[in-house]
Amino acid sequence: MCGIVGYVGPRPSQDILLAGLARLEYRGYDSAGVAVIDGDGALGMRKKAGKLAMLRDSLKDAPLADGSTGIGHTRWATHGGPTDVNAHPHLADDDKLAVIHNGIIENFSALREELLADGVVFRSETDTEVAAALLGREYAGNGGDLQHAFRSVVNRLEGAFTLLAMHQDHPGLVVGARRNSPLVIGLGEGENFLGSDVAAFIEHTRRALAIGQDQIVSITPDAVTVTDFFGAPVQAEPFDVSWDAAAAEKGGWSSFMAKEVAEQPEAVANTIRGRIHDGQVVIPELDGLDELFIGINRVIITACGTASYAALVGKYAIEQWARVAVDVELAHEFRYRDPVIGADTLVVSISQSGETMDTLMAVKYARERGARTLSICNTQGATIPRESDAVVYTHAGPEVAVASTKAFSAQITALLLLGLHMGRVRGTVADASADVAELAALPEKVARVLESEQEHVTQLAGWMADTRSVLFLGRHVGYPIALEGALKLKEISYIHAEGFAAGELKHGPIALIEPGQPVFVLVPSPRHSALVHSKVVSNIQEIRARGARVIVIAEEGDAAVLPFADEVIHIPLAGAMFEPLLAVVPLQIFAMALATAKGLDVDQPRNLAKSVTVE
Ligand code: M6R
Repeated sequence: MCGIVGYVGPRPSQDILLAGLARLEYRGYDSAGVAVIDGDGALGMRKKAGKLAMLRDSLKDAPLADGSTGIGHTRWATHGGPTDVNAHPHLADDDKLAVIHNGIIENFSALREELLADGVVFRSETDTEVAAALLGREYAGNGGDLQHAFRSVVNRLEGAFTLLAMHQDHPGLVVGARRNSPLVIGLGEGENFLGSDVAAFIEHTRRALAIGQDQIVSITPDAVTVTDFFGAPVQAEPFDVSWDAAAAEKGGWSSFMAKEVAEQPEAVANTIRGRIHDGQVVIPELDGLDELFIGINRVIITACGTASYAALVGKYAIEQWARVAVDVELAHEFRYRDPVIGADTLVVSISQSGETMDTLMAVKYARERGARTLSICNTQGATIPRESDAVVYTHAGPEVAVASTKAFSAQITALLLLGLHMGRVRGTVADASADVAELAALPEKVARVLESEQEHVTQLAGWMADTRSVLFLGRHVGYPIALEGALKLKEISYIHAEGFAAGELKHGPIALIEPGQPVFVLVPSPRHSALVHSKVVSNIQEIRARGARVIVIAEEGDAAVLPFADEVIHIPLAGAMFEPLLAVVPLQIFAMALATAKGLDVDQPRNLAKSVTVE
């Protein structure tokens, strides 16, 4: 949601801003705009509803004078529809000051009233214009000190915001602030950048600075200054981005999603790398943090969407290996009741972006309640890891498609690692060697599924392009994968889909089965539990008897399912906790192929944003 770019340096800024916005397109947006201070010191601005191409066309038709100080924005509408007028930047101080914003200013109505009473005339319906007008008034009232005015404004705002501002009387200066919303600094040679995430400037620099909560940054071509909201200097942490611009390019693939599905063996391998020592799982980031795992009596894993399904797999793994009770909580439900948590609770949050507002708020809430917090995250410098006591990074590389695929696999991998790490620390895993061998074998097995099932599943999806509903059934760790298979299908192919625990079937969902209803069934290996396997085979018989079209995902050599399946998708043999990483792959391919067959944009599905930075 909302992408932000800022630039100061020697180069003309428009192309830099537009390229940065293009790299942030994946976040989801419905309008875009740029403001530039030109070579004569005048501020120019252009904004357009619709895709970035509309803004580019407008700039081509009527060019804006260029200059080397600029800000750019992609907006995902919250206050006011996606129109030209509501798009950012918003101007104030006789159009000499430009402001862009991500987030929601919760006290904007009161501030708007105050400004209206002062004679301010608003052009848009946005909360952002209120911040711009407030800044304009402060600036005019304090004799033209932009940083000072900016500080007093951010101190009056409530809610979540990343705010960037520049004034034509201060070329070469962009100021920014963040509260519960992302902002990262890119450090260049004689130039500096600001971005919602590092993708905004990755083609220019991989050196970045993470800004903390309630901090303000000023960038000029040669300096970066970070303070708190009251002006006290803050030491920001520099880091090197571990991927380059090419990693965030489509690179010949038909879609980012296709590329990211194919990158899963690498994502899993990179997440495991450096975390296995002498046949044991040892996560270096958790070195010296054993107290996080000892003396706890409960783990809560909190996340949203796909990450919450990874969490469900993590529940099984951590309970099995670390012998501690695990609950999975949707982050947006967690803090709106009165959960029983305290110093003996470990709250694990999972987020690809590290910026999901619901998850961030759950982490903050857990900390306030005295719980220990650990995050699993794919994005360096993101807010959620900064708000947690510890972080285990997934190394999936940048995930651009809205539908999460390789990040999901990396999250499950990280949770398996965490479970084994905790089991070692807590002394509940006597011998991890078999599980460690399973982990190490995963990348090759995932690659095998991709290779062997791509064509088959794509063909299947082609046949089912007119299907109006698909159901997914699973048991044990297959249950979260059934939920994930349904979510993937819903979000990119707009088909009704639901995932169920297979055992629930007779408690209601079986009423949905009518002749021809497609049902994917995830069959656990009989080698893990003959009983659970036989139960799932019985479930298959029950739906088959009612006319369902049964597509089975089962391990190679599972002959018991053959008589009852219309289609069988094979996955390699793996340990019980490791099967989800193999079984999810055909479901991702299926959703992608079906959406493609329907002519849909698999990377940017309607209504969705990659990074959900508002509650
Ligand atoms: O960045 P996060 O992992 O915190 O995002 C959580 C969900 O919004 C995300 O997984 C969403 O469900 C995906 N679009 C699913 O493909």
